Amino acid sequence: METEKRTQTAEQTDKRDLSEQIKEVTKESHVRAENTELMLSFQKGQVTLPQFKLLLCSLYEIYQALEEQLDMNSNHPAVAPIYFPAELARLKSIEKDLEYFNGPDWRQKIVVPAATQRYCHRLRQIGTENPEFLVAHAYTRYLGDLSGGQVLGRIAQKSMGLKSSEGLSFFAFPGVSSPNLFKQLYRSRMNSVELTAEERNGVLEEAVRAFELNIQVFDGLQKMLSVAGNSQQESLTNSTTVVRKTLQFPGSISPMIRMVLGLFVALATVMGLYAL
Ligand code: HEM
Repeated sequence: METEKRTQTAEQTDKRDLSEQIKEVTKESHVRAENTELMLSFQKGQVTLPQFKLLLCSLYEIYQALEEQLDMNSNHPAVAPIYFPAELARLKSIEKDLEYFNGPDWRQKIVVPAATQRYCHRLRQIGTENPEFLVAHAYTRYLGDLSGGQVLGRIAQKSMGLKSSEGLSFFAFPGVSSPNLFKQLYRSRMNSVELTAEERNGVLEEAVRAFELNIQVFDGLQKMLSVAGNSQQESLTNSTTVVRKTLQFPGSISPMIRMVLGLFVALATVMGLYAL
């Protein structure tokens, strides 16, 4: 009886929808992602322009790799059902935002932490070796952008004092009239993907990895910003030191003058003695 019950539960678990399972296995990672320093700055309405520009650079690299791999595998049986370039593709929007903030030579100004390169490397690797894992990455980025991302866009506009939505195309999905309805459609498409038990486990593991890669990117960006902040601080400290030295300069002259005067007096005294 007990064994029967346990088998039933196992079967039910196996039969559960991929969209439900993926949400469950990434729940804890989602909380960790939300609590990275960068995401907290967004939520507190404290995101700065340098922070946002740096984030856009990494998103550019990530979506370039993700969308290139989705395009290349668009006919793969696991990818075809969740392939929505017209509705979801982000690369062109990010390019527009980067051009808005960094000018026409924005491509030369792309800087990313090593974690972004690792993320892109993983995307290209699975695109070649396990295209079904792309489902996990597309889910993590696109459903995230359609969920919390919508609120974050409005917060970013306010915190950076932007008057219009220019520079914020990344957050806008003109091809999606209702994000909630679209998410429902997307989940049902995910659930229609046929996967062996092994492949399904692989996709679930990959989703946790996708969140981890994002967290590492956010942490890497924060480190870059704090290093930039420190070097600014350092040059400030250096200039303070220079000012302090300048201020000390007259003080260091007076003993010299005193010495010269002393020598002069001594010489005059000696000459005076000779004159006598
Ligand atoms: C400031 C940080 C974030 C906030 C406030 C936030 C908030 C949210 C909210 C409110 C939802 C909707 C939950 C629901 O419908 O049940 C959601 C869903 C989601 N978020 Fe986030 N999120 C944040 C960061 C992230 C990040 C960094 C990622 C991934 C890189 C991410 C990925 C997702 C995904 C994949 C979903 C869809 C879950 C599902 O319905 O299966 N989120 N988020």
